[in-house]
Amino acid sequence: MNPAKVRVAVFPVAGLGTRFLPATKAMPKEMLPVVDRPLIQYAVDEAKEAGIEHFVFITGRNKGVIEDHFDRQFELEETLKKRNKTAALNELQADLPVAGQTSFTRQQEPLGLGHAVWCARDLVGNEPFALLLPDMLFKSSPGVLKQMIAAYEKTGKNVIAVEEMATDALSSYGVVGRGDGPDSMFEITRMVEKPAPGDAPSNLIISGRYILQPEIFDLIGRQSKGAGGEIQITDAMQKLMQKQGFTGVKYQGRSFDCGSKVGFLTANIVFALDRKDISRDFLTELQNAAINAKQ
Ligand code: G1P
Repeated sequence: MNPAKVRVAVFPVAGLGTRFLPATKAMPKEMLPVVDRPLIQYAVDEAKEAGIEHFVFITGRNKGVIEDHFDRQFELEETLKKRNKTAALNELQADLPVAGQTSFTRQQEPLGLGHAVWCARDLVGNEPFALLLPDMLFKSSPGVLKQMIAAYEKTGKNVIAVEEMATDALSSYGVVGRGDGPDSMFEITRMVEKPAPGDAPSNLIISGRYILQPEIFDLIGRQSKGAGGEIQITDAMQKLMQKQGFTGVKYQGRSFDCGSKVGFLTANIVFALDRKDISRDFLTELQNAAINAKQ
């Protein structure tokens, strides 16, 4: 197959981040750092690696700093230059999208993830797009979106990344039903958002990465409220499934749900231990802290 290239990625970043108050009172949760990179940067890096050319951010009030993060900072760049901080300067420049590669639009009311995605309809237009929820951070190589693109290029369908989850945690996620096919590319038979205990169709959750066909927008526009009284992307996808196929990809790698404190803190530990510049010292401190914590 040779389906249309996935050029555009959508990043919903309008959430209030109430689980991280007071840190997120004035700062978007997507700017919380894992080691020294904000969460949103990891999601953009993953999209770039997968060949994405345009980055659409669904923002809200108090989120202006995300737009600043993806802009140049001349004063800072000049200062780094004068101080010969070449490595830091090069990293800043490498992280920057090319001019014209970003778009920002606001979700004016917190009506749910589905509604946030719907806000991107005019910016995406009539082409397939990737959807990345920056709360979900992955340690994987290749990146999760790149793994999904490989499945998309074979099937040309909608694609969802999934992973196994403990039964008692399933009701915090979207859960899919599994049909035929291998882990790398199987048929999805059903989707349920935040299933009640016992109603989950499997132990495979939606991991916050999607490749969707543009027909989803019309369905979201007509979608009534679902779990949590919000307009849910999962409900619209379940409707789209009546007309189009959905492929599940059980990705290779590990996720950190940075929407939760434990997930976020664990991500910081795992990513720090993987950093050549600090891993040795950090491991020593971590071991000391663990020994002391047991006492
Ligand atoms: C959203 C999706 C859910 C998915 C989850 C992954 O839920 O609605 O299907 O499993 O992200 O993090 P939320 O975290 O916004 O409650």
